[in-house]
This record gives sequence, structure tokens and C-alpha cells, in this order.
Amino acid sequence: MYEKYWGLTEKPFENTPDPRFLYHSSQHDEALGRLLYAVRERKGAAVLTGVFGCGKTVLGQALLRELSADRYKIAFINYPLLSHMEFLLAIAKSLGSYDLPTKKTEVLINSVLDNLNNALLNNARDGKDSVIIVDEAHIIEDVQILESLRLLLNFQLPNRFLLTLLLFGQPELREKIELNKPFEQRIAIKCHLTNFDLEDTAAYIIHRLKVVGRSEPVFTKEAMEAVYEHTGGIPRRINRLCDICLLSGFAKNLNQIDESIVLGEARELGAKI
Ligand SMILES: Nc1ncnc2c1ncn2[C@@H]1O[C@H](COP(=O)(O)OP(=O)(O)O)[C@@H](O)[C@H]1O
Ligand SMILES: [Mg+2]
Repeated sequence: MYEKYWGLTEKPFENTPDPRFLYHSSQHDEALGRLLYAVRERKGAAVLTGVFGCGKTVLGQALLRELSADRYKIAFINYPLLSHMEFLLAIAKSLGSYDLPTKKTEVLINSVLDNLNNALLNNARDGKDSVIIVDEAHIIEDVQILESLRLLLNFQLPNRFLLTLLLFGQPELREKIELNKPFEQRIAIKCHLTNFDLEDTAAYIIHRLKVVGRSEPVFTKEAMEAVYEHTGGIPRRINRLCDICLLSGFAKNLNQIDESIVLGEARELGAKI
């Protein structure tokens, strides 16, 4: 709606995990580097935590972009509110298992695990590494799921892991994992994302505008300070506020977004930002 007015090729602040927009803050880059290290060096398991809206899912997409399909077989579970069986079947299908049972009994859970083990071995024989990524892993309720993931990590060749497991979730994921000591001991890498500081907030806004073709400033320095004040530097909230400010500036026929626009829109959005 306002894209043309501001000289943009598309909307800059959509709340979608599009890796084309990735702003390489030092914390995002460090987390991405660690996750890539976990996968490429076959470190077993890694955990990425961070509050809602700080960039875990977009980092997952950026990671997927780095892992070529001819080298990696990847199961990406993005909403793991599944039964134990559904969870294992979803992974098994993505990792290349076949002849999967369909009846849901405990005995069959073991046969799915066997089946998965074979898929991991087959992938290794084909020169492919198997990777499981579970986003929103903090919502996993069934402790049996963690137990099965631990069993899968135990399937190893003498000299290497057959599987890399990456768990992404809100901070309570760490507490959940800590309650399960045997699982916790399998985690080789932990990383955490927090909110941006003022400097990163401003650089983030400028970066997203640049991705859609706008190099000249749109938000004044004071406006970006106000965005930081009202969003706490959480990218999801920054997106929401900046998007509505662009709309407002367009409606008012402005050349730039100043502090008063940001304050007005932040007041309108209130607790909803
Ligand atoms: N480093 C970043 N670069 C670009 N966009 C980001 C970054 N971090 C977060 N975002 C954006 O903020 C929004 C929320 O991020 P998301 O990855 O969904 O957060 P989470 O999964 O931690 O809740 C998304 O639109 C995402 O694209
Ligand atoms: Mg997410």
C-alpha cells in the first residue's frame, strides 16, 4: 500500500521469517556460526533459546539456506505439539524411512525408532548427514519425546554421531532440558538470543529498508530511539511498530518518520506491539 510512496520494492517490516532480510547482528551471527558448527562438525545436539520474537525461526531459515540438499537430509519440525508417535513419524518420513507402521501402540514406537536408525545409517552410507531441527521445542509436553530424541542421539558409529539435533525454543526450554540430566549431557552447544540494544535496533531498521531498495534515511535518529524505547529492541515488535509508522507517514504525506509519529503509533498499539 505504502511501498511506492516510500520507494520500496516490497514491505520491509513483515513479521515473516524471511532469511533475505537477515540482519547480521553480532549475536545472530554468533548463534548462526555455532549452529552451523554443530551441524558441519557433527557435534550431536545444540540448543538455541531466546524470548518470543527475537529471531530464532528466521535464524533456522538462514541455517537451512546454508545446508545443501545433496549433503544433508533434514527433518524440520516447526510446531511440535504432536503425540510421541506423530512426532517420530514426522521425523522418520523427512529422514527417508520407509515401511513405516501406522498403528499406534508402544511396541510400534520401538519399530519406528528401529526404522529411523536404519534411515540414519542409510543416509550416512549415501554420504549424507541427518539433521533434525525442532522449532518451538519448549512446547514439547511429552517427556517420552525427549527420551526418544536421546535414544536417537545414541545411535552412533564408533567414530561419529549419525545425527545432529537442533532444538530452538523460548528460555524455559533450557529448564526443561536441565530436568532431564542424561539428555542435558548430550547438548554440546548452547546459544541464546536477547533483545537488540539501541545501536542494533537502528541498524536493523536501516538494514531492512535497504533490502527493499531504500538507502536514504526514512526514520530520524530520534524516531529510532523512540522505536527502541517502545519495543525493548525485540525484532518482532520493531517490525510491527515500524510498519504502522510507514503507513501513517504515507497517509500524512510526510518525507520522514519523526519521533512524534512513532510516539503516536506506539500509543495506539499500546500493549499490542
Ligand atoms: N536478525 C534478524 N534479521 C532480520 N529479521 C529478524 C531478525 N531477528 C528477527 N527478525 C524478524 O523478527 C520477526 C520475529 O522473528 P522470529 O524469528 O519469528 O522470532 P522467534 O522465532 O524467536 O519468535 C520475524 O519477522 C523475523 O524476520
Ligand atoms: Mg519462532
